[in-house]
Amino acid sequence: MTTTPEVTLNNGVRIPQLGFGVFQIPDEETAAAVSTALEAGYRSIDTAAVYGNERGVGRALASSGIPRGELFVTTKLWNDDQGHDETLRAFDASLEKLGLDHVDLYLIHWPLPARDRYLDTWRALEKLHADGRAKAVGVSNFQPAHLSRLMENSDIVPAVNQIELHPQLQQSELRALHAKQGIATEAWSPLAQGAVLQDPAITAIAEAHGKAPAQVILRWHLQLGNVVIPKSVTPERIRQNLDVFDFTLSDEDVAAITALDDGTRTGPDPDTLN
Ligand SMILES: NC(=O)c1ccc[n+]([C@@H]2O[C@H](COP(=O)([O-])OP(=O)(O)OC[C@H]3O[C@@H](n4cnc5c(N)ncnc54)[C@H](OP(=O)(O)O)[C@@H]3O)[C@@H](O)[C@H]2O)c1
Repeated sequence: MTTTPEVTLNNGVRIPQLGFGVFQIPDEETAAAVSTALEAGYRSIDTAAVYGNERGVGRALASSGIPRGELFVTTKLWNDDQGHDETLRAFDASLEKLGLDHVDLYLIHWPLPARDRYLDTWRALEKLHADGRAKAVGVSNFQPAHLSRLMENSDIVPAVNQIELHPQLQQSELRALHAKQGIATEAWSPLAQGAVLQDPAITAIAEAHGKAPAQVILRWHLQLGNVVIPKSVTPERIRQNLDVFDFTLSDEDVAAITALDDGTRTGPDPDTLN
């Protein structure tokens, strides 16, 4: 079984660099997908309250027999629950659904700048971290201005910013800021939800290495230092996406993928989502 490399977060907690995302998997199908992923060797699972599948994740974790200390579980606070007390209640609800007494990473799902509640929300995450119920805390979809404001007004630097990041949206400004501030970059929709799998530059690199296009893209993320959380409900793809540690992209391969950045988002713009 493959050993996935780990990234050490700014508080010393280690996160597997490649994990399994469960966005858009119905709760009743989630346990099967997560069980397949755990059997394949994944140890990090990324869910969110809004995905409605924390119970399915919890069932798979419980039946896996894998010691809790070997698992890394991330969930996220949904938008309607922002605010200090609301966050603490929402966190309790997520833990209950997951069947856990702590998570490894808890994230604010979106900044929602127009609602302006993320500073109060962050104070609740700081408390959850201090109480040991979230081993690390971070944010998702935060733009540079949101990160700067958060850091000016709080004690803990987010361990992670989970952002949309793939060959069409390479986020060089945010990645540079993260590197400067000690924030790990976690890529969501790392495969652009499949949109770049047929790109001729990607398929040519894949052919040259005898790998699949998705594996080339995941390898590109890993070589950039990103944490990645590809999603699939297809057992062969779940296994394929973890089989990315036996080849290396050349500088030319990386340059060809870098050239695909055209700013296309698959999801909402964090500055305007409210
Ligand atoms: N923080 C946020 O706001 C946010 C937003 C979106 C996503 N996320 C997280 O990021 C995770 C991944 O993002 P995502 O689910 O949006 O998209 P993704 O991982 O980029 O792509 C998933 C899509 O690609 C297909 N796929 C996966 N592996 C493949 C392979 N080897 N070959 C061909 N097709 C493949 C899947 O199909 P099948 O499933 O049919 O196999 C699915 O349609 C989510 O599950 C979630 O945990 C976070």
